Amino acid sequence: MAVIAVVGAQWGDEGKGKVVDMLAERVKMVVRFSGGDNAGHTVINPIGDFKLHLIPSGIFYPSVTCIIGSGTVINPARLIEEIDKLNHKKVDTSHLVISDRAHLVMPYHLLLDGLEEESRAGKAIGTTRRGIGPAFADKVARLGIRAGELLDKKALLDRLASILEHKNAILTKIYGAEPLSLDEVYEQYCRYGERLAGYIKETTTIIRKARERGDGILLEGAQGALLDPDYGTYPYTTSSSPLAGGGSLGAGIGPTGIDRVLGVFKAYCTRVGGGPMPTELEDETGNRIRERACEYGTTTGRPRRCGWFDAVAAGLSNQVNGLTGMAITRLDVLDDLPELKICVAYELDGRTIDYFPSSAATLERCRPIYEKLEGWQADTTDVRRFDDLPEQAKKYVKRLEELISCPADLICVGPAREQKIEVRPVL
Ligand code: IMP
Repeated sequence: MAVIAVVGAQWGDEGKGKVVDMLAERVKMVVRFSGGDNAGHTVINPIGDFKLHLIPSGIFYPSVTCIIGSGTVINPARLIEEIDKLNHKKVDTSHLVISDRAHLVMPYHLLLDGLEEESRAGKAIGTTRRGIGPAFADKVARLGIRAGELLDKKALLDRLASILEHKNAILTKIYGAEPLSLDEVYEQYCRYGERLAGYIKETTTIIRKARERGDGILLEGAQGALLDPDYGTYPYTTSSSPLAGGGSLGAGIGPTGIDRVLGVFKAYCTRVGGGPMPTELEDETGNRIRERACEYGTTTGRPRRCGWFDAVAAGLSNQVNGLTGMAITRLDVLDDLPELKICVAYELDGRTIDYFPSSAATLERCRPIYEKLEGWQADTTDVRRFDDLPEQAKKYVKRLEELISCPADLICVGPAREQKIEVRPVL
């Protein structure tokens, strides 16, 4: 059975949770490979409506091992809250595993995320303020504390003592904030460790054994390609790689071990937070999309910026992810629009360009060049076969396939599990 990476191909919020929830019944393992509780994966299934932040969207299938992988950062308080909420709704979490290599979001990360954002004033990134950037910065600075360290209280105290001294100096001397108490943070994290101990494991062995058995594995991405720190709209990005390559690292499966990469795109674009978005619609059409699709952040509740599909950005996403197929979600949101636009190139300082510039400042100056298509103005929410879609909807999807050079394997026409068109078997 295959290893498939399911990755966000735009600015996040593409509907990866729904796609993973849908595909998870066909596999034995789901590994969330990057990000932290900045992610918000909405899953609507027969058990209920759920908003997951850290727990893989495969959790609703008791036979699926769900791993929070080595490439993630975990705020233990938020994870415990998520586990409790699921258990409260009778969802079993005994098949959840936390990689002992995953890094922890610490109280100073949360404080610093807020303080750093405030110090950026007009140039704020618009982070989710979940401490994600500071936690990943500490990981590469070798100042991070990993989930496995919660299991050895003495070693934890030693590391925390020296790290906290350094963090308190930054909090007090640079930001004039109050220092954190070593005793309080230590005791708090010891309690988290006791609560999570049964879930924390060495995961490379678990994944190796699953692969030896030939189990199907889904690598579940968070955020989207255009928030990647290398290829996204830097510095308006997140801090870990949402790309399939990030899946390889964050799950611990070498690149040759990934058989397929499914890129999840919305049928239009959205973005939360600051940074350039060439096709943003600050008009009635943008508002109409936002209201119809309820485009408000799952994690922060912020209104999402909405715009037309950007095929230039999608081309880059295809390239850097090595997509083998696309899942196009929320096609039904476009049902009542009389005319649709797809951005096929940008105009930059009087020239036409067909690539996504590396600099956010340059991208800010890019004006979208649109191709117009007639809308279908018909309800697609009950359609289950590609051939049954309205002609104009088929044309829209086919044009996206042509522009991105990637086949649409899956099309979603509503939030429920069954509202999908599987054009080609995904696995
Ligand atoms: P951070 O990941 O909280 O540091 O936020 C950095 C940027 O990524 C901000 O623009 C956030 O709005 C954006 N971001 C982070 N997580 C998500 C997500 O799950 N969906 C959409 N945008 C996100």
